[in-house]
Amino acid sequence: MDFTQISLALCLALLIASVECKQVLVDLSHSLNADNHRWPTNDKFELIVVANGTLDNGKWYASNNVRFSEHTGTHLDAPAHFASFDGVYSAATIPVERNLKTKCISHCRLVGPLSVINLKEKSDADRDYRVTADDIISYEKEFGKIPEGGIVIFDFGWSQYWNDFEGAFGSQSNDTTTFHFPGLGMDAAELLVDRGVYGVGIDTPSVDYGPSQDFPVHYYLHGRNIYHLENVGSMSALPKGGEGVTLVVGAMKIDGALGDQSVLLPCLMKKNRLYPRQLSQDTEYLC
Ligand SMILES: *[C@@H]1O[C@H](CO)[C@@H](O)[C@H](O)[C@H]1NC(C)=O
Ligand SMILES: *[C@@H]1O[C@H](CO)[C@@H](O)[C@H](O)[C@H]1NC(C)=O
Repeated sequence: MDFTQISLALCLALLIASVECKQVLVDLSHSLNADNHRWPTNDKFELIVVANGTLDNGKWYASNNVRFSEHTGTHLDAPAHFASFDGVYSAATIPVERNLKTKCISHCRLVGPLSVINLKEKSDADRDYRVTADDIISYEKEFGKIPEGGIVIFDFGWSQYWNDFEGAFGSQSNDTTTFHFPGLGMDAAELLVDRGVYGVGIDTPSVDYGPSQDFPVHYYLHGRNIYHLENVGSMSALPKGGEGVTLVVGAMKIDGALGDQSVLLPCLMKKNRLYPRQLSQDTEYLC
C-alpha cells in the first residue's frame, strides 16, 4: 500500500463509521496538481505516468510516480525545518504517544483537540495582519482555554486562493520581498507555547506573515518542538471555533523529511472523552 491507499483506507473506514452513525467527516486538505501555487523556491508538483492502460496480457494496470517539494499543498512543517537540537522532531519522528502530566491519558501529538480561530475580518482590513495574543484571549473567552496538547489553526478564509498565486501571495512576482498575506505575531506564538500546544496551523502559505524575511515565528515555534500546518483547506464546514473537534493529522512518515504533504481529517466526537471541553449538548457528529 502506498500513502494514497492508506489515506483512502482511513477515509473509507471513517466514512463507513460516519454513515452508520449519521455523522459528518470533513477533509481540510487541498488536493495536489501542477496548477497549485507554491513557494517560489519549491519544485513544481509533477505526476509522472508509469503505466495507464491495458497491458499485453489484456489486463488493466495504472500507476504513477510523483515528485514535489516536502512543503507542498496542505503540509506539515516538522520542527527540524527551522531548528536543530537533540530531540528535535523530523516528520517521521513526531511521537505518536506521550502521557500528559496533568491527565493520565495516552496522547498522540498528531491527534488532538482542535481550536479554529477565525480572523477573516482582520485580514480583510489588512492583508499583512499578524495574529496577536489578544486575538487568542478573545477566542478563549468564547470557547474556553486552549488545552495542553491542542492543535490551533488560524482561519483567514485563504483557502479561496488555492491555485491562485497572486491571491495567496498578494504579488505577481516570485520575489519574496513583495509578498503580502497574514500570519502570526510573536506575542501570539509566545501565548501558544505557554498553552502547551503541539501544533499550530494556518490557511496561508506560512505561519510568518508575507513581508517577513527572517521567519521569527518559524524559529520560535520549531525551536520549541512545535510543528506547523500550512495551506490548510476550508474550515467553513466545521463547528464555530472548532468546538468539540479532534483533528487527525495524517502525516507521511518519510525518514529524514522536514515537512510532508498531510491529510487533515477533523472529527467531531459526540462525547469527547479524551478532551472534555465545553461541548455543546447533543453534538451529532462522531468519528
Ligand atoms: C489515464 O488514462 C485515463 C483514460 O483512460 C485518463 O482519463 C487519465 O487522465 C489518465 N491518467 C493520467 C495520470 O494521465
Ligand atoms: C516564478 O517561478 C516559476 C518557476 O519556479 C515560473 O514558472 C514563473 O513563471 C515565475 N513567475 C514569475 C512572475 O517570474
